[in-house]
Amino acid sequence: MPSHTFTVNGRSVTVDAPDDLPLLWVLRDLLGIRGPKYGCGVDVCKACTSHLDGADIRPCVVPVKACAGREVTTIEGLADGDTLHPVQEAWLEQDVSQCGFCQPGQIMAAVALLKRTATPTDADIDAIANICRCGTYVRIREAIKSAAARM
Ligand code: FES
Ligand code: FES
Repeated sequence: MPSHTFTVNGRSVTVDAPDDLPLLWVLRDLLGIRGPKYGCGVDVCKACTSHLDGADIRPCVVPVKACAGREVTTIEGLADGDTLHPVQEAWLEQDVSQCGFCQPGQIMAAVALLKRTATPTDADIDAIANICRCGTYVRIREAIKSAAARM
């Protein structure tokens, strides 16, 4: 079984796994990192959204071999110790979450958007394709604007 070494949330990890095993399975089943959620497995729902070298990815369609020597960040790695990321703070202030299943992916997508553009327009926010079955889109939009203002 090939072994793969990369960084997850600032910690170097080595896992033994087939080259084509999706990163989401490695995170959840081999490393016990459960923030990235499984919804569809085919890059549609975006519930698993995480970051690879700072850019948003869907780990359900990224093979573990593509992560060698690179930096993976999940929702668990977003806060700085006890200090939440501004997007997490905004999420709490706006009381965004309902069932919460999609929310780690929503937050990681929002953080990636704010890295690409400091002052996103409504169209930029609407372009986030993460699905929320509870329909929290209005509060997500307000939280992203609030986070943008404080970053
Ligand atoms: S699980 Fe749906 S996009 Fe990854
Ligand atoms: S908060 Fe329930 S699916 Fe988004």
